[in-house]
Amino acid sequence: MKMKRTIIRPNGVPNSISEQVATPIMPSVVYASQSPNALDEQYEGKQKGYTYAREGHPNAEILARLIDNLEGSSTGLVVSSGMAAISSLIMGTLSLGDHVLGGSQLYGRTLRLMREDLPRFGIQTSFADPTNIDSFKTEIRKNTKMILIECVSNPTLRVADIEGIANLCKRNNILLAVDNTFTTPACIKPFEYGADFVVHSITKLLSGHSDTTLGYISSKDQNKMEAIYNFSVSIGATPSPFDCWLAERGLATFELRFEKAQKNAEVLAEALKKNSKIKKVLYPTMSEHPDISLAKQLLKGNGCNMVSFEIGDNRIDANKFIENIEGIAFAPTLGDIGTTISHPGSSSHRYLNLNARKELGISEGFFRVSVGLEDPNELVASIERALKAI
Ligand SMILES: Cc1ncc(COP(=O)(O)O)c(C=O)c1O
Repeated sequence: MKMKRTIIRPNGVPNSISEQVATPIMPSVVYASQSPNALDEQYEGKQKGYTYAREGHPNAEILARLIDNLEGSSTGLVVSSGMAAISSLIMGTLSLGDHVLGGSQLYGRTLRLMREDLPRFGIQTSFADPTNIDSFKTEIRKNTKMILIECVSNPTLRVADIEGIANLCKRNNILLAVDNTFTTPACIKPFEYGADFVVHSITKLLSGHSDTTLGYISSKDQNKMEAIYNFSVSIGATPSPFDCWLAERGLATFELRFEKAQKNAEVLAEALKKNSKIKKVLYPTMSEHPDISLAKQLLKGNGCNMVSFEIGDNRIDANKFIENIEGIAFAPTLGDIGTTISHPGSSSHRYLNLNARKELGISEGFFRVSVGLEDPNELVASIERALKAI
């Protein structure tokens, strides 16, 4: 990109007849235009160009197009976090008096947004079991405008009946939004099932190195995307160019990382199943999983990289287990190159009371592992050693 010379930056950017191969980081907050008329043309969409980074910048756009390619879209928008994506999606498209119906096992902060924040703005919310289409049918109201689900729920790894829910949405003129963070486009592409919106926390598997916080939203409907874009610009959900650049670099190895992490997760799930200290293991493609037939049909044999399991239902054992674990970070995230283990009761779902957590199947002894790229035998050995301490 050629920069015009100014008094304070007299040298501009050096010219080069040969092109850069790697994407440069472009942190400029503002872009100089040729004239007021030229600026008008940019804002009217007659000329392509950037003006102010909150309204868009090259690193975000490069990343958005790459994720679009994976999701089979062309309209994606990158914002400052997964939650910024979910908030912009709902607040940009719904209005006072509308109702949004969510899967009962959405990510904890999404649940909180729907329970605590949206109602303050007059957007009604309720929840239904995404594995049971009848539960969704009974929750539909006259003013239901959107259904929001995750394909595989966090942290209990239940598989949503996305096909059934998409058909239900079509029949009732309801928009379907899918958070594809857990499953990723390597496993399922929600637009192929009729989703109207796909969102991601890029922070997780797509970026993959726990060093960026970003989100993505896409829709096949340009008008809706325009509304979401405008809302995200107004609330200032600007993604940092540096984060976008890091995420682009991470995304280059996403498919390789996903494949390896998934293989490791399969090994870990099988090993945990045999351990007498473990009451229950949840992994979508394991024969004991409650949604095994949906998993086979929708996830096409992919169990993904997350394994959840339960030890005894008490905090003392939970603390002992984690204090004795070596080589695995106890950290409430997922999708890092390294394996992490989280305790939803004290992190993502901490704001729910004990009974509400129990209803979701999250006891004090419930753990979720985001499996990374290590030698799977070392992972199994580390968890087995820590289990011996309880
Ligand atoms: C499924 C899912 N969606 C959305 C989010 C929010 O993403 P972020 O942390 O980038 O805001 C998370 C975070 O853990 C998540 O797990």
